[in-house]
Amino acid sequence: LVLVVDFGAQYAQLIARRVREAKVYSEIVPHTMSTEEMLAKNPRAIILSGGPSSVYEPGAPQLDAALVDGRVPVFGICYGFMAMAQALGGEVAHTGQREYGRTHVSVLEPGTLLAGLPTTLTSWMSHGDEVVAAPPGFTVNARSPRATVAAFEETDRRLAGVQWHPEVLHSEHGQRILEHFLWEIAGCRPTWTMVNIVDEQVERIRAQIGQGRAICGLSGGVDSAVAAALVQRAIGDQLTCVFVDHGLLRKGEAEQVERDFVAATGVDLHVVDAEKRFLDALAGVTDPEEKRKIIGREFIRVFEAAEAEVLGAAAEDGEKVAFLVQGTLYPDVVESGGGAGTSNIKSHHNVGGLPDDLEFELVEPLRTLFKDEVRLVGEQLGLPAEIVWRHPFPGPGLGIRIIGEVTRERLDLLREADAIAREELTKAGLDRDIWQFPVVLLADVRSVGVQGDGRTYGHPVVLRPVTSEDAMTADWARLPYDVLEQISTRITNEVAEVNRVTLDITSKPPGTIEWE
Ligand code: XMP
Repeated sequence: LVLVVDFGAQYAQLIARRVREAKVYSEIVPHTMSTEEMLAKNPRAIILSGGPSSVYEPGAPQLDAALVDGRVPVFGICYGFMAMAQALGGEVAHTGQREYGRTHVSVLEPGTLLAGLPTTLTSWMSHGDEVVAAPPGFTVNARSPRATVAAFEETDRRLAGVQWHPEVLHSEHGQRILEHFLWEIAGCRPTWTMVNIVDEQVERIRAQIGQGRAICGLSGGVDSAVAAALVQRAIGDQLTCVFVDHGLLRKGEAEQVERDFVAATGVDLHVVDAEKRFLDALAGVTDPEEKRKIIGREFIRVFEAAEAEVLGAAAEDGEKVAFLVQGTLYPDVVESGGGAGTSNIKSHHNVGGLPDDLEFELVEPLRTLFKDEVRLVGEQLGLPAEIVWRHPFPGPGLGIRIIGEVTRERLDLLREADAIAREELTKAGLDRDIWQFPVVLLADVRSVGVQGDGRTYGHPVVLRPVTSEDAMTADWARLPYDVLEQISTRITNEVAEVNRVTLDITSKPPGTIEWE
């Protein structure tokens, strides 16, 4: 275990991911955690993340000198580097000179940290202060235009640090530097692999559920699919999956769950065909928030009814605890301030047909994993690539990609256009470069066109391909013109009611990814 101490910048999650890419398991802890608590976790190494740009900033988090006294190997990054320098008797000058973005770092003495790397490294910096003297006994490995000491190490006490951000993509050889620290200086062994995760989780799930009964809602997305497949591997038929087909899915998605997912996992699947119910509830509704509310409400009702049916049987057998499987990921856990090991217990009081004293215990086998790791676990479990590599898709589905009233006819239209766009993206090999590719039907807009000899009066669709890291911000994707052309030609030819294809070139902010 490697602990990444979060000093409040947005980089801690990225560092934790890079450590895992070096095949060493990592967890994030807040900087407010005491040194004793951190050491009690028995970490093989500790990494101090970036944070404020200056250790002199009012309210800047303090580093406890006891953490860097040599008991545990420590690596400081950016703020962590400066805090380490200060705590160990080096000198940090409050220069007020800032160094932001791309910089060239000159290697002075490679030591262990920078062994085998070029003498100049393009690196990503973001700091206000400068380490002007390394702590006694440390080797200075590198400098930069605005940092007299940009990297240092003390291999006897297994301490090292860099002023730049080796975890970001723009920093050359950043991963190797992290690996040098983890493998050479700290002596961590690269043993954390996807095979281990599956085995370990299967053990844990068995221990948690025992002979109990578990239920899992499948959405068609990757998280719930992988969570379900893991639990299925652990407890087999004690798990029942519920899939609510609300009729707002994309072409082929329901079949992928009902046929391909079942074939790959052997899971016991309970399908609820609720299309009519959802479409009836949505009839005449055009307001986006209203649509979301209706879809959310109906979904919970339908799911809970199915849940009650499945678990009612368990309760009749005298079982008091049932298990609800959820695909919660590590970023959700970190952001809600939770620890990595616990699973909360929730009581359902509003489920019709269940006894009051039946409690649900959550099973969250993905709560220590990042999205890209979840996909690898999915591959490991043999899930179909279409599910494992699926782009994020909103719960309300195509219901919020039809601008105007949602009807069966309009859904079918949009499904066809959307399928073409996805197919061409896949064919161009761009699936993994794009975060999401919504296609939006402007159902209440018509425009004039000409096709063959005739005038047409059809609907436009909007292509909304975006790149993003986490959906909080996004940019419109610069898809190659020939891919766009192919999509446009095919949609207007193959989807009779659509006579115009447009491209959304708005970033987020100010636009959101979805149109409603
Ligand atoms: P926006 O449109 O706000 O979307 O930029 C950000 C991300 O969230 C997805 N999204 C949803 N996901 N239920 C979901 O599960 C929802 O109601 C919902 N609305 C938006 C959206 O697809 C994008 O990935």
